[in-house]
Amino acid sequence: MRRFIFWVGMLLLLLTGCRVDYPASVLHPAGPVARAQLKLVALSFFIMAGIATVVLGLLLYSALRFRQKPGDDEDPPPSPEVTWVEVLWTAIPLSLLIIMAIPTYNTTFYLAKPPTEDPLPVEVVAHQFWWEFRYPDLGIITANELHIPAGRPVEMKVRSADVVHSFWIPRLGGKLDAAPGRTNRFWLQADEPGSYPGVCAQLCGAGHAQMHLVVHAQTAADFEKWVQAMKAPYGIPTDPLAREGEAVFSQSCQGCHAIGGSPFKGRVGPDLTAFYLRTTLGAGLVKNTPENLTRWIEDPLAMKYGVLMPSGKRDLNLSDGQIQALVAFLEGNR
Ligand code: CUA
Repeated sequence: MRRFIFWVGMLLLLLTGCRVDYPASVLHPAGPVARAQLKLVALSFFIMAGIATVVLGLLLYSALRFRQKPGDDEDPPPSPEVTWVEVLWTAIPLSLLIIMAIPTYNTTFYLAKPPTEDPLPVEVVAHQFWWEFRYPDLGIITANELHIPAGRPVEMKVRSADVVHSFWIPRLGGKLDAAPGRTNRFWLQADEPGSYPGVCAQLCGAGHAQMHLVVHAQTAADFEKWVQAMKAPYGIPTDPLAREGEAVFSQSCQGCHAIGGSPFKGRVGPDLTAFYLRTTLGAGLVKNTPENLTRWIEDPLAMKYGVLMPSGKRDLNLSDGQIQALVAFLEGNR
């Protein structure tokens, strides 16, 4: 008995992990899609919890009430067929299934199409192990940090450049598979400005656990400001160190990375347009600071398991000075 209480206590302790106001909790939805999904899950949960309680309760009651007593060695009489009981235990599950089926059907169709005429279209392309976001109407490409206007639905087309990933922003909605050769669609909306963390929710290789993203929901004016910054014409750096960094970038980085408006058009790795605006680097791995960027360029594999970017030191043979120049170039606001 003491052991039983111990384990029940341990299980109850696990419930403390279910605090609702974590930044990535589905129990704390921040948009209509996540709310619709939570409602549906809650309905199924409470119906199933009710079934479990009744069935397990009856089981426990029967086991205790009708257990063999000392000296009772006779077989019990066979149970007769009782029609009303048969009808009842067919009718109850059937009605419960109908109760779950109708909202499931409605929600499925609600989630299939944004409810307004002018959603913001965004294409999500999953890569090992980072996210590419394209805004076809705005001519912007970015990575790992999705900017959206709060209060406006965003229509998403989700696909993958390699293996199957899954796009999930717990407080806004998901998960939606990102599969190669197939485009899945859904929409999202954030009620209020704020930053909402997301993850890849499908085991996709060595770097899966560190394939994060952030959704920055902004006021219409802030979003417009971001769009303008992303579309600002590319300027030749004036700072001599950044100028040197541009030359290093041209020689060693542009095969994989692009910068909007510049001659650099690589599409293998994340687009680095207005990199200074990013809050994180390495797909949500660490804060975007010159120190972290230096460590990252020197040896990304030392910071993120499975990353496909080559090491600046080992693979590209960049000197410390060249890496400092690159950091000045990337972090500079041009
Ligand atoms: Cu991508 Cu897991």
